[in-house]
Amino acid sequence: MERTFIFIKPGAVKRGLVGEIISRIERKNLKITALKMVKLTKREAEELYSVHMEKPFFNELVKCVTSGPIVAAIVEGRNVVEVIRKLIGSTDPVKAEPGTIRGDLGLDLTDNVIHASDSEKSFRRESKIIFPELA
Ligand code: CMP
Repeated sequence: MERTFIFIKPGAVKRGLVGEIISRIERKNLKITALKMVKLTKREAEELYSVHMEKPFFNELVKCVTSGPIVAAIVEGRNVVEVIRKLIGSTDPVKAEPGTIRGDLGLDLTDNVIHASDSEKSFRRESKIIFPELA
């Protein structure tokens, strides 16, 4: 079965939205197969977002995701990479459709509630950083 990696960003954890977000994922009939609350180190955050290293928002992004604990999970299900990204909505919560996680729960572009891997290759690379014991 296909798997993906997600993490709930610090702002949403602080706002007490973990239950709501995990519940939306579970209600879609996707399976949470690993779950962890961690505070990312700067190095881990830089590695996680290494594809964006040259982007002007990189430093702000690293600062944001290391500002407090995140809740990371591995999610399993049919076409899960595509399904989760639909459930989450567009990167910018202003543009994300109502009914999606970002559309309903977010407003900030950097602290945009949740991250999800964009491919199986990204899943393997990103999940190894938070769940090295499962690699
Ligand atoms: P995420 O899904 O975690 O993947 C990369 C993140 O970079 C994205 O969500 C946003 O939080 C952030 N991001 C993307 N584009 C911009 C931008 N133009 N300005 C600031 N942050 C951005």
